[in-house]
Parts: sequence; structure tokens; C-alpha cells
Amino acid sequence: MEQNPTTIKQKKPPFGLILHIHPRMVKESTLRFSVTYGLGGMAALLVVVQVVTGLLLKFHYEPSPENAYNSILNLQESLLFGQMLRNIHHWSAITLVWIAFLHMLRVIFTGAYRKPRHASWIFGLALLILVVLSNFTGYLLPWDQLSYWAVTVSTSLLSYVPLAGDLLREALLGGKEVGQPTLTNFFNLHTGVIPLMMIILMGYHFWRIRKAGGVIVSERDSDSPMVDTRPHLLYREFVVAIALLAAIFLLSSLLDAPLRERANPSFSPNPAKAPWYFMGLQELLIHFHPFFAVVVFPVTVLAAAVWLPFIKADDTNQGIWFLSDHGVRSAKFSLAAGVLFTLMFIGLSELLPDPEMLLPAVPSLITTGVIPFLILALTMWLFIKIIRERFTLNRSEIIQSVIVLMITSYTILTLAGIFFRGEGMNLMWPWQV
Ligand code: HEM
Ligand code: HEM
Repeated sequence: MEQNPTTIKQKKPPFGLILHIHPRMVKESTLRFSVTYGLGGMAALLVVVQVVTGLLLKFHYEPSPENAYNSILNLQESLLFGQMLRNIHHWSAITLVWIAFLHMLRVIFTGAYRKPRHASWIFGLALLILVVLSNFTGYLLPWDQLSYWAVTVSTSLLSYVPLAGDLLREALLGGKEVGQPTLTNFFNLHTGVIPLMMIILMGYHFWRIRKAGGVIVSERDSDSPMVDTRPHLLYREFVVAIALLAAIFLLSSLLDAPLRERANPSFSPNPAKAPWYFMGLQELLIHFHPFFAVVVFPVTVLAAAVWLPFIKADDTNQGIWFLSDHGVRSAKFSLAAGVLFTLMFIGLSELLPDPEMLLPAVPSLITTGVIPFLILALTMWLFIKIIRERFTLNRSEIIQSVIVLMITSYTILTLAGIFFRGEGMNLMWPWQV
């Protein structure tokens, strides 16, 4: 008997939702691991891990200064897999900062921030800020000495913002000092506002990538054939996801998330350090006037990052790492220059006499702000002149090299702050810190 075609049950493909996130077909060349290293996908998975483990932690955690610390102790000691749950939330939060940062570097060094990917870039920047803010707001929740004082130090930086600084700080803290209202604010931001904003922005980020025609493809791969997303892309994503989860589980079973003694607002550790991702800023504060360290530098970097996709430059070689051989050589040179400059800068500012003492009549905004800033700007100008002539670079390659220099410099400042600053934030060897 012949079957009526309308009565044959259409088989629905599995992974329906995933196929909505992805297009049905993708360019074969974009499947190569070295195009994206799967970093965007890994960041997305880590956000899911954070939301799931965070929701589970919420069953046990109590956001009050009296009970927060004990609720964490109790979670670790008496709840089955409680310590493991906290470890996973802790280590994947740190991994997320690294992965989102490396993903941003991948985008920069393949020139994938330019039109039509400018919106993905700008919303990516917003996502990076949210990733750091979720780490920062989460940091306070265990309410131990480390978290209490790190948040006190970091939020005190806000006071250097002219006019609105103190107002901003008090709004965030819910008072003049870190206390119950601060914990309530941080808890609500951490478990509500920030994750919600991240999920919305991630949706938009993905949609813009779709609209830009998928991941960037270099000119030499432009005639690469299209292949089905399922199984080609899904299979690869599955492997990367399993490898990442395995790594996080392994790390979490080997290393426990730190927990110091209960927060004591009347005893400040010496030195009181900011969380590791803000240590570069705290180190800058040692060398520059606070207005420059906390306002001028961060605002300039952020404004330049937003402006980046709109700088006029030739669009050739997008999708190729460092754009050309000249680009590669100049990037290596910039890395070495970044290490050297920054070490010299830290060394000189340690050895030379304090400019405030030398010129007591001149306001410190000039001696430790405007003058060093101008010297830095001049050094940057010279650096650009040198690499342009030495490596015959186009504008995109120059931009990349400047970014390499700046990132290297911030990394060295961060390492110096974490490992080489001890009591009174004086320079010392790591084993003395
Ligand atoms: C939670 C953080 C983030 C998530 C979940 C995420 C996710 C993704 C995914 C899945 C892709 C596509 C493939 C890939 O490159 O892996 C992508 C591409 C992209 N992302 Fe992100 N991203 C995040 C943060 C960022 C940041 C910090 C930036 C830059 C500041 C950024 C800028 C871009 C750009 C420009 C593309 C398009 C690249 C291309 O077409 O080659 N994203 N992102
Ligand atoms: C991208 C998203 C997130 C990041 C980066 C993040 C990061 C962190 C960090 C760094 C801590 C401190 C952990 C420690 O020192 O052990 C923390 C604690 C905590 N987070 Fe999250 N989190 C995220 C999302 C969430 C969500 C969505 C929730 C709940 C809805 C949540 C609930 C908690 C709770 C209850 C704690 C206190 C427990 C503890 O400190 O171990 N988190 N988070």
C-alpha cells in the first residue's frame, strides 16, 4: 500500500537550538583551529558554567557580613561536593578572564575588528568589562581578609575621579566603607544585573557575527567551499568543550579556591593589594599622579579601543595573523621593546629622586602627571617612527605593534605589582613579599 506523503512523520534534526545559533553551512576554511582557536566558544561555555555553578552556590551562600564567611566554610566542609562546586566557580571565573582576553587578542591580530565587524568588537569590549566586573563583584562575597581589603583598595581608586568620584564610590559601597550595604549591592550585581546584561549582550554579539557573514576569512581562503555545520563545526565545538571542561575539573580537583581568615575591618594587611587584574593599575598609581593612573590612562585606552574600527586603514590581509611578515617582525620587536621600556621605567622611578621633593613648589599634578605623561607620549611617537621606518609598515600593522607594546607593558606592571611589591608596596624579591 502506498503511503500518503503528508502522513510520513518528518524527522526533526537534533541540535535544533544550536543550529539556530549557527548558520546551516559554514566556510570550510573557518573550521581550521588556528583561525579562532575556539576561544569565543570557550568563553560562551564558561559563562554557562558560571551561571550553573553560581545558581547552585546561591542555595547555600548568605549575603550578610555576619554569615557570609561561615556559609562558605560550611559549604566547603559539610556539603557533598561543596568545595568542588566553589572551586569550579572560582577557577572558571579566572579562566574566563584569560580566554576573553586571548579571544580579543585573536580578533586584534587577525584584523577582525574592522567593518563589518565593528559592532561585534564594541559589544565584545562591553562583554570584557562585564567579565571583569563579575569577577570583581564575586571577589567580595566570601568576606575574608583578602576579599574585604582588595575591594576596599580597588574602590578607593574611584575617589580620584574628579567631581563625581566620592559620589560614585559611596553609591557603589552604599556608604563610606565596605559593609552590609556593599555586600548587598555586590551580591545583587553579581547574581542578577551583570549575568543578565552578559546574556543579552552575548545574544547580540552572536547575531552581529552572523550578520557580518561569519568569522573572518582571509583573501586566500575566499573560494573555500561551504560545508554543513552539522557535523563539521558541531563536532569540533564538542571536542573543544569537553577538553575545556576536563581542564577546569582537573584544576578544581587539584587546587582549592583560596579562603583566608574572616574579614576584619579594623586590621588592614600590609600591603593591601587589589585583585590581580587591577594590579597593573595599582602599580601605575605608584609612578603617576592618581588622576593620570585612574582616569587619564584608562579613559584614553577605552576611547582608543572604541575608535579602533573606525580608523582609516587599508583593508588588505584581514584574517591573516599579524597581516604580513613585516607585521610579525614588528610585533616581536614591540614585545621586546615593551618588556625593556617598562622594566627601565620601574627601575628609574625607583632610583631617581622623587619629582615632588625636587620641585616642591610645582603642583604634583604637573611633576608626577603632566611631565611623565608628555615624556611617555614622546617615547611612543619615537617608537612609531622607528618601527615604521625599520619594518616598512602600513597603518594597520603600526596599530597592532602599538597594541603589542601596550599589552606587554601592562603585563609587566601587573607582574611587578603581584610578585615584586611587599610591605609598604616597596620593591622586593618574590620570596620576601
Ligand atoms: C564573554 C565574552 C565573549 C564571548 C562569549 C564571545 C563569543 C564569540 C564567538 C563565539 C565568536 C565567533 C568565533 C570565535 O572567534 O571564537 C566571536 C567573535 C568575535 N568576537 Fe567575541 N566573545 C566575547 C568577548 C569578546 C571580546 C572581549 C571582544 C573584543 C573586544 C570580542 C570581539 C569579537 C569579534 C570582533 C568577533 C568577530 C571575529 C571574526 O569575525 O573573526 N568578543 N565572539
Ligand atoms: C560570568 C559570570 C560570573 C563570574 C565571572 C563569577 C565570578 C565569581 C568569583 C570570582 C567569585 C569569588 C569566588 C571565590 O573567591 O571563591 C564568585 C562567587 C560567587 N558567585 Fe559568581 N561569577 C559569575 C556568575 C555568577 C552567577 C550567575 C551567580 C548566581 C546566580 C553567582 C553566584 C556566586 C556566589 C553565590 C558566590 C559566593 C560563593 C563563593 O565565593 O565561593 N556567580 N563568583
